[in-house]
Amino acid sequence: MIWSRIAGTGSYLPPKIVTNDDLAKRLDTSDEWIHARTGIRQRHIAEPSQASSDLGAEASRAALAAAGVSAEEIDLIIVATATPDYIFPSTACIMQAKLGAKGCAAFDIQAVCSGFVYGLAIADKLIRSGQHRCALVVGSEVYSRILDWNDRGTAVLFGDGAGAVVLKADAKPGVLGSVLHADGSHAGILSVPGNVCGGKIVGSPFLHMDGQAVFKFAVKVLDEVARETLALCGMTVADVDWLIPHQANVRILEATAKKIGLDRTKLVVTVDRHANTSAASVPLALDLAIRDGRIRPGHKVMLQGVGGGFTWGAALVEM
Ligand code: ACO
Repeated sequence: MIWSRIAGTGSYLPPKIVTNDDLAKRLDTSDEWIHARTGIRQRHIAEPSQASSDLGAEASRAALAAAGVSAEEIDLIIVATATPDYIFPSTACIMQAKLGAKGCAAFDIQAVCSGFVYGLAIADKLIRSGQHRCALVVGSEVYSRILDWNDRGTAVLFGDGAGAVVLKADAKPGVLGSVLHADGSHAGILSVPGNVCGGKIVGSPFLHMDGQAVFKFAVKVLDEVARETLALCGMTVADVDWLIPHQANVRILEATAKKIGLDRTKLVVTVDRHANTSAASVPLALDLAIRDGRIRPGHKVMLQGVGGGFTWGAALVEM
């Protein structure tokens, strides 16, 4: 039987840091308000010259090095992003060229903050089918480009960054199971409701959100999808060593862990350092927790995404 296993992880945060105090100099907000409501202390902002493909390529190089895999060995690239370099070609194709991984399949997926979990689930299926053997799954975002920096309700919540994993075919189980969902009837509570038409922006190019509706929906579906994934894998919450939900807001993360019945000490929280990086947040948190020694070989990790669409999903992974 063929399984897919995570062979290496990497992440990248652009060097420029904007703290809550920096934002408070130009917006009617404060470090106290932002930290109490979200757990966020700072976010990283990409330089104008850096696109999602650049951030993703940096994270990918780190993941390839950790896995001991060369770019030529990659036979599948999936990039999850809601902030692509262009309308087309895909960010995955642009990143492929930057990595020098010519010829392999490469495509983007758009599931907003659930994008990485969607990408991991798709790559797992393609590897388990025997069609691919070595995939790069990347979440990369430059949300600073789609924020209205005069709107304190949204500007304080997001940041730029990327995370990547190398997923390889293996005889040993790695991705134990995954579940994906969407409900488009909730599209209106979190969206960038604009597009380009006839050379003009039609609608709004900025992120719009009903924060309280998003909060309630996220906690509900993250609890449900955790239970569904555990049942699929024939496991219980006691089998989970670490929970990595989408890093949106520490209050959503803590409420989710509590609902699932998981001890707070098993929750990985990195949102304080990078704010909400959408599709990048789960692989970023995974990489940071591996590099600081918390997540070790043999640990079972529940990865969870939730975001615009609405989309949500989870994957249980043995490291
Ligand atoms: N600084 C200071 N005050 C603010 C700020 C700010 N940055 N933003 C809003 N306020 C004010 C509001 O204007 C309001 O003032 P009022 O009472 O005078 O009208 C007051 O704070 C309360 O506003 P609420 O929106 O009710 O605040 P709430 O407690 O709901 O917190 C928040 C807002 C943090 C957005 C919360 O709803 C939340 O965490 N929602 C989840 C949203 C989220 O995490 N989104 C990420 C994207 S979704 C995803 O990734 C799945």
